[in-house]
Amino acid sequence: MSIRSIQHFALTVPDLNVGRQFYNDLGLNAEERNGTIIAHCDGRDQDEVILIEGAPKHLHHVSFGTDEEGLSRLKQNIEAAGTKLLDPPAEWQEDGLWFRDPDDALVHIGTAEPAPWRKDPPWLTNTPGHYDRVGTRGCPPLDIEIRPRRFAHMLLFTADIEAKTKFFTNVLGMKVSDSVETFINFFSASSGSDHHILAFGLSSKPGFQHAGFELGSVDEVGLAGRRMLEKGYIHCWGPGRHGPGSNYFHYFRDPWNSISEYFCDMDYIAADSDWQAQTWLNSDAAAYWGPELPVDFLTNFEALGSA
Ligand SMILES: [Fe+2]
Repeated sequence: MSIRSIQHFALTVPDLNVGRQFYNDLGLNAEERNGTIIAHCDGRDQDEVILIEGAPKHLHHVSFGTDEEGLSRLKQNIEAAGTKLLDPPAEWQEDGLWFRDPDDALVHIGTAEPAPWRKDPPWLTNTPGHYDRVGTRGCPPLDIEIRPRRFAHMLLFTADIEAKTKFFTNVLGMKVSDSVETFINFFSASSGSDHHILAFGLSSKPGFQHAGFELGSVDEVGLAGRRMLEKGYIHCWGPGRHGPGSNYFHYFRDPWNSISEYFCDMDYIAADSDWQAQTWLNSDAAAYWGPELPVDFLTNFEALGSA
């Protein structure tokens, strides 16, 4: 047993009020708690985004979940790899394991189950020879409420994709589900998960590139993006469909030049799936279809000092 789920990520940001506004506008519930901002999706009893005041903006830590047996096994693996276990950061009460990965990035693994997220009725579509939606409109009303269901994955920059990949597979038990040439690796949980709950992209320095939030349909991915545009946020890329993971995507810049993604319909890899990881050409992977990859999509603004 190894990492089973991604639970939350914590960012240090210069202005908590700006951060709270952004995640509320994205469709989460962001509120102050003990001097930090905690954001979660409707009905989910789980911290999904944590904002801590400080500058410049950077990733504070990522938290993963496993069970008791997994935690015990992971503790052995981490210590056998020569990685030192740490005390929790000051004023941080989480139990579990705290350590720094090969990028010196802080990681937490605790005993946690992903909190249930809102289930939707089946998505009814009409395809050649199959009328699953009859007598009702496919286009949802323009004022339909759209709220992300869950925080689902993140992509982090790293200066050493090989070392980081070895650590998260050999020591923490994740699986590479696909790669893009030699500069992006995607990871699923070996116990079964989305195609990726974590990904690493090559850069000159570590950094936070994007976090993905799941929506219910392509219409929601499109309309939620339209609303972020109307609120004045900076469009980054999409809508389109990725090769790795197959998800429909739509990306927007957060206030610190990193990115939030609305997505739906990602591939799922079960523990016993005969999944064959493949290495994609960037020209095929990034936008299987959709707008061309923006030149600054993989720019690490933290490394440039302009986060
Ligand atoms: Fe993503």
